[in-house]
Amino acid sequence: MCGIIGYIGSENAVPIIVEGLKKLEYRGYDSAGIAIYGKDGFDIVKQKGRLAALDQKLKENPRSATMGIGHTRWATHGEPSDINSHPHVGSKSKIAVVHNGIIENYKQLKERLEQKGAKFASQTDSEVVAQLAEYYYRGDLLETVIRVSNALEGSYALGIMSLDDPDVLIAIKKDNPLIIGIAANGNFIASDVPAVLKHTNQIYYLEDKEITVLKKDSVAFFSIDKEPISKMPETITWSADSAEKGGYPHFMLKEIMEQPKVVRDTINSAVNGANKAIIDEINIIAYDKIVITACGSAYNAGVVAKYVFERLCRFSSIEVELASEFRYKDAVIDDKTFVILISQSGETADTIAAMREAKSKGASTLAIVNVVGSTLAKEADFCIYTQAGPEIAVATTKAFSTQLILLYLLAIRFASKMGKLANADQNELLMEIEALPEKIASIFLHVDDIQKYASVCVGYKSIFFIGRNIDYAIALEGSLKLKEISYIHSEAYAGGELKHGTISLLEENTLVVALANCERLYLKSMSNIEQVVSRKANVLLISSQEETQADKRLKFIKLPEGNELFSPSLSVIILQLFSYYVAANKGLDIDKPRNLAKSVTVE
Ligand code: G6P
Repeated sequence: MCGIIGYIGSENAVPIIVEGLKKLEYRGYDSAGIAIYGKDGFDIVKQKGRLAALDQKLKENPRSATMGIGHTRWATHGEPSDINSHPHVGSKSKIAVVHNGIIENYKQLKERLEQKGAKFASQTDSEVVAQLAEYYYRGDLLETVIRVSNALEGSYALGIMSLDDPDVLIAIKKDNPLIIGIAANGNFIASDVPAVLKHTNQIYYLEDKEITVLKKDSVAFFSIDKEPISKMPETITWSADSAEKGGYPHFMLKEIMEQPKVVRDTINSAVNGANKAIIDEINIIAYDKIVITACGSAYNAGVVAKYVFERLCRFSSIEVELASEFRYKDAVIDDKTFVILISQSGETADTIAAMREAKSKGASTLAIVNVVGSTLAKEADFCIYTQAGPEIAVATTKAFSTQLILLYLLAIRFASKMGKLANADQNELLMEIEALPEKIASIFLHVDDIQKYASVCVGYKSIFFIGRNIDYAIALEGSLKLKEISYIHSEAYAGGELKHGTISLLEENTLVVALANCERLYLKSMSNIEQVVSRKANVLLISSQEETQADKRLKFIKLPEGNELFSPSLSVIILQLFSYYVAANKGLDIDKPRNLAKSVTVE
């Protein structure tokens, strides 16, 4: 994954780059580095570990320059180490490069370059870019970047500086995101908008194989054939504050607490705002199959949606698939298939590949995306935006909640177009959705109780999540959230499946989080809970039904009442808070869990 940033302007690049990297650390955090111009060539500082370690090193020995590039790494080729950290230079230390992506033909290129005398210092695929650039360089950096790009296979967002060109910074991308920011104090390249928001909201989005030549006071764009391109900047509405912690100990907690607002904004966008026209444009009756595909939590949102679509639209064929599976399974889809892709970042490699696969087979595609201008947003036939604002914590919360909202509203709109929903029923469902932000806010009144309970759960080796129907769908998300940030083993099971395997794992020191919000299935869920209690496991019950005498044996959390179809939007808040406080009580690095990254731009 990795985050890259570059700056050229009138101020000291070092603190600007480090600040920017802090906003990109969610993309990878096993090492970081920076390159600027020094007295005798490039001055490169690289450090294994969190960005704080690099920051400390730079503070101990402050330096200054008006151009530089920086990188925060999530290792793919070569272990996390100082040497494997970026920026990389060629053997002559003439060209410095930061890279996000994977160079698939790096072995062949490396062999060829070694035969020509290049001496590789690292085990990374990225170093090949710097070595190749030095090999091709004949005094024209733009020409060099074009030749390098033509030789590379794979994905890349690159920031490139040459020792001979102290007033030029060049960037290019293919299949990995890169934005260009223009500000009064200089110009920027970055993997994502929050890295530059403090300086500018004027952003250019680079297309694949477009090249940017940045100078202190100008930005020019070229095609891979060296033809000048004219592009218009877009104005970003996210505020710089939205990418700050705002007094919370972690971004995750801040983002959980923002949910009433972002859910409200997302409802408004789909009912009266920009998303409405796009939803209305979709002629769902032209399709005979819906496929929902995504990764991670976005996939879990898709599982919830499958239940809602089935119930409301009565569509004969609705499938939900992991994008990493869908892309290679040779799916039976055609121009009568409507494919919904869900993604916070809009840059997840598997989801993008799934979209391209669907399009190549003639299917129509709708992307539900948070990051404006991302690859999915640009390439899908239709795109609607969640209004979550920047999400920084690796474990998603508010983006997930806003995905659910758009999926519910799509289901209602589709059902109504298909003649499956009377106007009165549609209005009633819309009113239920309109009430969700307030109900979410009411859950926050019980934060102390959830926090207290979570503090006694840190010792569990295993925590299981069970539920039936839509409760099962949201159990998947509860379990994922917990394991992501607390490192406690966890599985989600459909309540009725417990007896087919997982029940053998239940004993005194296990916790089962049981969800029981489906009225029709309430008694069935309670029978499952009895089976769990009989095995002496502890139970946390989350239910919208009133607490019974029998529930007094369990830890009970009451959900606000409402239509069960939308109960995932409420139960997920408790599951997020529970995971957050378990991890907080274990003293873990909640915003940056080990081995994970927020934006997974590699396979
Ligand atoms: C990573 C993140 C998850 C996210 C998943 C899909 O694994 O840690 O929180 O759900 O990627 O990302 P996307 O940007 O496509 O929603």
